[in-house]
Amino acid sequence: MAHDGKHALVTGSSRGIGRGIALKLAEQGVEVAINYRKNESAAKDTLAKVQQRGADGFIVQADVCRPDDITRMLARVKGEFGTLEIFVSNARPDVPEFYQGPMSITVEQWDCAMNSQAKAFLLSVRAAVPLMGDGGRIIAITYAPGGRTGSWQPWVGMGAAKSAMESLCRYFAAALAKRGITVNALSPGWIEDSVLNTLPDAAQDMIRKWHQGGWTPMGRLGTPADIGNAVSLLCSKEAGWITGQTIAVDGGLSLMDAGLPLEIQRG
Ligand SMILES: NC(=O)c1ccc[n+]([C@@H]2O[C@H](COP(=O)([O-])OP(=O)(O)OC[C@H]3O[C@@H](n4cnc5c(N)ncnc54)[C@H](OP(=O)(O)O)[C@@H]3O)[C@@H](O)[C@H]2O)c1
Repeated sequence: MAHDGKHALVTGSSRGIGRGIALKLAEQGVEVAINYRKNESAAKDTLAKVQQRGADGFIVQADVCRPDDITRMLARVKGEFGTLEIFVSNARPDVPEFYQGPMSITVEQWDCAMNSQAKAFLLSVRAAVPLMGDGGRIIAITYAPGGRTGSWQPWVGMGAAKSAMESLCRYFAAALAKRGITVNALSPGWIEDSVLNTLPDAAQDMIRKWHQGGWTPMGRLGTPADIGNAVSLLCSKEAGWITGQTIAVDGGLSLMDAGLPLEIQRG
C-alpha cells in the first residue's frame, strides 16, 4: 500500500472529516492516532473501522485548546509509535463555542477559536516535528472563505483563526523546507456527515439544494472520504514539491463568482 509503515496523528478524528481522513490513511497502510475531546465511544468506533481496514492505531483524549494536553498527546504518540510521518490538524470545537458576530462575540468565544486553530497548530507542529524524519507531511484543515470574506457574520472568530493557521502553514513550510517536510492547508467545501448534520434540518436542506443547484459545479456536497483522499495524495512521495499552499478541495465551489446570478455564469 502507498503509505505502508507510516504513522499519523489526526486531531478531531472521532467523527466527521477527521474520521474520513483517518480511514483513508488506514486504507493506505498508515497506523493512526485518533484524537478526540469528549466523545470516547465515537473515537473507539473510528479505531475499530481503522482496524477493519487492516491498519492499527490508538485513541488519545486531548483538548487542543490546552497546551498541556498537546504536550501529553504528542508524548503518547512518541511512546506508541516512536516516529510520526503525518500530522493532520483537523479538530474544531462545536459551533456554539465560537459562533457569534463581530459586535457580540465574547472573549471566551474568540479565544476558543484562536486557541483551537492558530495556537493549537503552532504548538502541535512544534511538538510533532521532532518525531518526524525528513519528508514528513503536515496538513491543516481550514475553511478558506471564512478568512477571505466578511459576509458570514457569526463565523468571524473561526474565519480569523483559520486565516492565522493558513499563515502559519506558509511560515512553517519555509522553516521546514530543507528537511523536505511539507506544510499545506486543505480547504473543503461543504461536507456531508460532519458539522453540517448538527444543523437544523431546514438549514441542511437549504445548503444541499444550494450546492446541488449549481453553486458547487460538481453538483453535490463533498464527503469525509473526498477530504481523506486529498490528504492521502498530499502524503505521497510525489507530492513532495508542494508546500506552503492552501488548496481548495471543493468540487469547484471556489471557482464561482458571487457577483453574478447562476443563470448568467452558466451561459
Ligand atoms: N464540515 C464542513 O463542511 C467543513 C467545511 C470546511 C472545513 N471544515 C473543517 O474541517 C474540520 C472538521 O470539521 P467537521 O465538520 O468534520 O467537525 P465535527 O464533525 O464537528 O467534528 C469535530 C471533531 O473535533 C473534535 N474536537 C472538538 N473540539 C476539540 C478540541 N478542543 N480538542 C480536540 N478535539 C476536538 C471532536 O471530538 P469529540 O467527538 O470528542 O467532540 C470531533 O472529533 C474543522 O476544522 C472544520 O473547520 C469543515
